[in-house]
Amino acid sequence: MFNNQVVVITGAGRGIGAAAARLFADYGAAVVVNDLENAMAEETARAIRARGGQAVALAGDVTEPGFPERLMQTAVDRCGRLNVLVNNAGYTWDGMAHKIADPQWQAILDVHLSAPFRMIRAAAPHLREAAAAEMESGAGMSNRCVVNVSSTSGLHGNIGQANYAAAKMGIVGLTKTIAREWGPLAIRCNAVAFGFVDTRLTRAQEVQEESIEIDGREVVLGIPQKVRSMLDKDIQLRIPLGRPASEDEAAAGIVLIASPLASYITGHVLEVTGGMGI
Ligand SMILES: NC(=O)c1ccc[n+]([C@@H]2O[C@H](COP(=O)([O-])OP(=O)(O)OC[C@H]3O[C@@H](n4cnc5c(N)ncnc54)[C@H](O)[C@@H]3O)[C@@H](O)[C@H]2O)c1
Repeated sequence: MFNNQVVVITGAGRGIGAAAARLFADYGAAVVVNDLENAMAEETARAIRARGGQAVALAGDVTEPGFPERLMQTAVDRCGRLNVLVNNAGYTWDGMAHKIADPQWQAILDVHLSAPFRMIRAAAPHLREAAAAEMESGAGMSNRCVVNVSSTSGLHGNIGQANYAAAKMGIVGLTKTIAREWGPLAIRCNAVAFGFVDTRLTRAQEVQEESIEIDGREVVLGIPQKVRSMLDKDIQLRIPLGRPASEDEAAAGIVLIASPLASYITGHVLEVTGGMGI
């Protein structure tokens, strides 16, 4: 399905991104794996190579000026081309709207909205020029697309996530705009909105003790145990399928919409939610 195609995935050292990287590789793609730390990105790339796949790791912060250009250039230099960009990297820094400080607001907008925009802009020459040349030559068009990761928090809002919800809805507008602007070159752009996926972003803070360092500040990841227990209690009511998604199930949504089988699907928001919010 992805033979001779090159896929760049941000935040693919763990969680949904790592699962997507493995799945793309299983279907034949060469994958460029990005994450903040080299060890994490390398771990995913090594796992792919151990299964006989092709993968290259590039560590770096997606919000760092100039990094998007370096990531796209790495894909082209090391793997020969770019077909699919998946904007997946991110984290949460929750708080009630009236208590969110400026750096907390800005950091989440930066990672979930501005960085994907800059990634798309950096991917533009590689995707658009290759598509235009193919079109000119009259050859069949290759699969080329962008997949942006959104969330039900963006589609419906979520208590404690004003910053994250704003960014995750913003990326829907960005997705639809790119779909309109790049459609004439047969380059698709879709979003995948997840609901409740079992990763370190949704596990109980007190149990997992995970954090991320942003500008020298430690941001605790996960949900307070009290809130997680409340969510678990009425899970059958909130989610028709009655359980969170596994990382692999979430990743499958990304791979599905990036695949050539979705060649006539663009500007769409695929809800991978077990039916949550319908
Ligand atoms: N888990 C859920 O229920 C859920 C729901 C909706 C949307 N999402 C979205 O799915 C995506 C993946 O999240 P996940 O649940 O797999 O979380 P995760 O923490 O398991 O993985 C996210 C990865 O992104 C990396 N990352 C964070 N900031 C980065 C940066 N600035 N530069 C490069 N890499 C960075 C992290 O190091 C981490 O490895 C995120 O965009 C998240 O908002 C998750």
